[in-house]
Amino acid sequence: MSAENTRNFCIIAHVDHGKTTLSDRLLEHTNQVSARVLTDQHLDSMDLEKERGITIKSHPVTMTYPAKDGKVYKLNLMDTPGHVDFSYEVSRSLAACEGAVLLIDAAQGVEAQTVANAHLAVGQRLKIIPVINKIDLPSANLELCLKQLEDILTIPAEEAILASGKAGIGIEEILEAVVHRVPPPRWTDYPQARALVFDSLYDAYRGVIAYVRVFSGTLKSGDMMLLMSNGLRSEIKEVGIFTPKMEKVDALGAGDTGYIVSNVKDTSEIKTGDTITLSRHPATQMLPGYKEVRPMVFCGLYPVDTSDYEKLKAALGRLRLNDAAFVYSSESSVALGFGFRCGFLGLLHMEIIQERIRREHDVDIISTYPSVVYRVVKHGGEVIEVDNPINLPDPGTITEIQEPTIKAAIHIPNDAMGDILALVMEKRGVVDHTDTLDATRVMLTCILPLNEILVDFNDRLKSITHGYGSMDYELGEYRTADLVKMEILINGDPVDAFASIVHRDKAEGKGRELCEKLAEIIPPQMFKVAIQAAIGGKVIARDNVKEMRKDVTAKCYGGDISRKRKLLDKQKEGKKKMKQFGRVSIPSDAFIKVLKTN
Ligand code: GTP
Repeated sequence: MSAENTRNFCIIAHVDHGKTTLSDRLLEHTNQVSARVLTDQHLDSMDLEKERGITIKSHPVTMTYPAKDGKVYKLNLMDTPGHVDFSYEVSRSLAACEGAVLLIDAAQGVEAQTVANAHLAVGQRLKIIPVINKIDLPSANLELCLKQLEDILTIPAEEAILASGKAGIGIEEILEAVVHRVPPPRWTDYPQARALVFDSLYDAYRGVIAYVRVFSGTLKSGDMMLLMSNGLRSEIKEVGIFTPKMEKVDALGAGDTGYIVSNVKDTSEIKTGDTITLSRHPATQMLPGYKEVRPMVFCGLYPVDTSDYEKLKAALGRLRLNDAAFVYSSESSVALGFGFRCGFLGLLHMEIIQERIRREHDVDIISTYPSVVYRVVKHGGEVIEVDNPINLPDPGTITEIQEPTIKAAIHIPNDAMGDILALVMEKRGVVDHTDTLDATRVMLTCILPLNEILVDFNDRLKSITHGYGSMDYELGEYRTADLVKMEILINGDPVDAFASIVHRDKAEGKGRELCEKLAEIIPPQMFKVAIQAAIGGKVIARDNVKEMRKDVTAKCYGGDISRKRKLLDKQKEGKKKMKQFGRVSIPSDAFIKVLKTN
């Protein structure tokens, strides 16, 4: 099929506005694959996605659509993740398309990521097809959505398609709009072959599988490809398309979306956003949009059971193969032994990786307090980056500490304004400006320290606004702040895993909160345990863990030994999930609980 009859498009939306449901419908309509097979074979590949109801990885798929104009079109669709942590993946998918279906939940209206994603799409010069989705909902407010479309996104309301992925309304109309409104593939005339890598996957047997959008030229097995960012050459072993399962084809031509299997065995060598060209006639100019992703949030991950160290190492290695945005290196902690320092795009990314280690690799892990990357200026002008509080140099040698900030766009109902302003202030943020979105909603543009939004900002925003608030952010600049290292001492010994870098003004309150929380979470011990928070050796808060003796077999009268053994085994099992700190046992999930509630 010629490039003239090919359309590459994606679906973008705020999280939960129905992208996955709608993509399934489009596939069904084009008889690509039944929804059931799709669920079983394709989306099921990541249990977590289903459980959390969010898309983590983008799934491309090629459909054949006989349009009303009598011509048959090849439609390449990318489903994109909506969560802010994965906006890098969204922009990669966008770069591989000429058009974007922008979904708006009819009951929710335009949200922060609707705006952010629409801006990304406009920035990439994509044709936007606005779709008001979920119109089957009784709470749908079409009038408001259409008005928001014009007022907030400056898209004419008459361009909107009314649809429901669930009820199957508007599906054909969307496909027709894709055919007629989205332009055919661009840059096909470029003299050499160029393909954009928008994702990659590691397969144990075939090595790295690069997901590509071919812009010009033809790629086929036997060709020697060249990766433009690092000059790596490798023979192409196989090319194919997604139906959505991988299906081998003879060649990928201009305008096609598909995959390439080569000799490359390490995902870090094929980076998302790179351009693949052919070694014999290499292109001289890369396709636009290549950006190195940098992890923003770091934490230490340690096996609860030290004998699981190798297993954890293998698990991280495997996860890294499929996720170039995730990095790790070995580190050790006095309290936790040998483990790894890991870097993530954001907190959700961190939670997902941790969850996958536990579930898919069956390793029980402890994570330390997450940290952003600080810049420390030392006397004499040397600047070092610190992503682990325990590596903070002696305060006497430091001129200043700078922390990363974000520029956040926060959409909220008018009546939540007061509470949200208080929250922003509590988090050391400043409101740059406010914009009225419509009669009931405003958008605050704020500058906040990244560190302050790591743990609970989004949850608090949702709870204050009863779920109607949303946020999107981009990284801002580094700013100087009065930051100090706070340590937690258990029975006088600092537990390095709980060390954190905090703002001096907040240290005391935070220290008190942490001590109280730990005292609550750590089960009563055989002896009294003191928990203290300290800055530079000066204690700023303290609490105690209760003392108690518990004989689990006390309730067993007589000599039923098997019953007794069972209870003791059960107790032992419980103990296994504890981490020993000197003589104090701390449940392995204490760290996470402390984090969550802090
Ligand atoms: P992310 O991938 O996490 O961004 O979510 P998504 O945008 O792919 O949303 P998804 O398709 O998973 O749908 C989110 C929720 O909305 C699910 O509970 C769906 O059942 C529901 N939903 C999706 N489309 C419709 C619709 O047209 N009508 C109604 N009533 N519910 C829908």
